[in-house]
Amino acid sequence: MGSKPYLRRMTIRPILTAPDPRLKAVSEPVAKVDADIRTLIDDMIETMYGADGIGLAAIQVGVAKRVLVMDIDQKDGKKNPVAYVNPKILWASEELAVFEEGCLSVPEIWDEVERPAKIRAEYLDRDGKRHEIEADGLLATCLQHEMDHLEGVLFLDHLSKLKRSMALK
Ligand code: NI
Repeated sequence: MGSKPYLRRMTIRPILTAPDPRLKAVSEPVAKVDADIRTLIDDMIETMYGADGIGLAAIQVGVAKRVLVMDIDQKDGKKNPVAYVNPKILWASEELAVFEEGCLSVPEIWDEVERPAKIRAEYLDRDGKRHEIEADGLLATCLQHEMDHLEGVLFLDHLSKLKRSMALK
């Protein structure tokens, strides 16, 4: 027997942009990774690709739940989306790294942000299975950027007041 065809079409949801106050919300933990959460994940992945992004937090589509999707390895059109539910940083290096960051909720602004270069994190996948990962480079930066969204923090909040006002001009 074949499996049931996948009939549901993924939906691109509107992305909130700053200064929408909802982006300041602290997101709630997911109690159970169920069908509703998987639908949210699928829609977020579609929305991220539709906006040409490499990461998206649920609050960016107006859902205050601790869910992220990322794909930092989209070279040659090959997609590798990963969902992170209830992600948590277990350890962060003292060593820092600087990346130029942008955000789908802060269009057309990029600026350098300094963050721990390496982190260890835990999360649940789209099947509710727990994982622990060590991340560095773009993965570490992107995870920290997206996890900031779960606390209502934008990358602009890491910039000095002067840089922030210059970036917003
Ligand atoms: Ni962002």
